[in-house]
Amino acid sequence: MSDMERGMTALNISPVSISAQRFNDWADVVRPQIEVALAQGLDAYVTHAVAQNSPLVAAMRHGVMNGGKRVRALAVLAAAHLVGGSQQIAMQVAVALEYIHAYSLIHDDLPCMDDDDLRRGQPTVHIQYGQAQALLAGDALQTLAFDVLASERLTQMGLTAAQQLQLIRTLARASGVAGMAGGQAIDCHHVGQPLLTQTMQTMHSLKTGALLHASVMMGAMCVTQGLNDAVNLSAEQLNDLSSYADDLGLLFQVVDDILDASQDTATLGKTAGKDADANKPTYVQAIGINGARDFAQKLYASALTNLNGIASAQQEQGAQYLADLASYCHERIY
Ligand code: IPE
Ligand code: IPE
Ligand code: MG
Ligand code: MG
Ligand code: MG
Repeated sequence: MSDMERGMTALNISPVSISAQRFNDWADVVRPQIEVALAQGLDAYVTHAVAQNSPLVAAMRHGVMNGGKRVRALAVLAAAHLVGGSQQIAMQVAVALEYIHAYSLIHDDLPCMDDDDLRRGQPTVHIQYGQAQALLAGDALQTLAFDVLASERLTQMGLTAAQQLQLIRTLARASGVAGMAGGQAIDCHHVGQPLLTQTMQTMHSLKTGALLHASVMMGAMCVTQGLNDAVNLSAEQLNDLSSYADDLGLLFQVVDDILDASQDTATLGKTAGKDADANKPTYVQAIGINGARDFAQKLYASALTNLNGIASAQQEQGAQYLADLASYCHERIY
C-alpha cells in the first residue's frame, strides 16, 4: 500500500480507485495523440506563407511543442470520458487549453514577470527568439485557442453553435481578469510581500486553478446529440465535478510551489529555488514546506471525495481517470 493509499484509508475515502499504472497506460496512449493534434493545429491555422517561415511561428512552435506534461489536455479528455463525450471533440478542446497554457508560460517567463531562462529543459521562448517575438507568440497562441474553439471543424463534429459559444465563454473567463491573468497580476503585484493565506489561495486558484477548472468543465461539455454513451450530469453532480476541478487546480499550484523549493533544476526542467530567490509569494513561504505538503494532501483527499458522488457504473472509467489525474498531480516530481 502506498503512502497515498494509507492516507486515503485513514481518511476513509475509497469508492474511486487509484492506479498509477492505469493512468500511465492511458497517458502513454493519449499523450502522443495530443502532440499530433497540437502540431496539426499550428499547421492548420498558420497558413499564411510569410507567417510560416517567420520567427513568430518558430517562437509559437517552441512554446507549444517542447515537452509539457499536458495535464490540462489530459483533464479535458478524462472529463469527456466521464460524460461519454466525443474524444475527437475533446482533443480539439484540449488543444485550445494547451495553447492558452503555453501562452501563459511564455509570458510568465518574460523578464517583466518571473524572468526565467529555462522551461521544460530548454531555453525559454524570449531567450531563444527575443522578447518581442515571445510576447507576440503568447498573444498569437491566445487568439489561436479561440480560433480552434470557434472552428467549423467542431461544428462538423456535431457541436452546436451554442455549445461552441459556451466553450469560448468558459475559456475566456478562465483566462482573463477573473482567471489566469487576474491571478498572475496578484502574483506580480505582491513580490516581496507576505500574503494572507486567503489571498494566496485566491491568487493560486486564479493563476493556475482557473485553467485546470476550465479544462475539466469544458471536457464535460464535449457531448453531442446522438452519442449513445452520453451521460447527463445532474446539477448536483456538476457541482461536485466543479469542486473536484477547484481542488485539482489549487493542488497543482501548491505542488508547484513545493517542487520549486525541493526539487533540482534538471528534474524540474526549470530553475529550482527560483521562488525564494525572487521573493515570490508561495505556500512554502507562507506556511513552510510541511504545511504546504499537508495542505496538498487535504486538497487531494477533497478532490477524491468530490468525485465519489459522480461515479456511477457508466461513468466509472472517466471518474477513475480523473481520480488518477489528481493522484498524478499530487505525487508528480516535476
Ligand atoms: C507550470 O505548469 C506552470 C503552472 C501553472 C504551475 P505545468 O507544470 O503544467 O507545465 P508543463 O506544461 O508541464 O510544462
Ligand atoms: C505560473 O506560476 C502560473 C501561470 C499562470 C503560468 P509559476 O510562475 O509558479 O509557474 P512556473 O513555476 O514558472 O512554471
Ligand atoms: Mg509566475
Ligand atoms: Mg514562473
Ligand atoms: Mg512555480
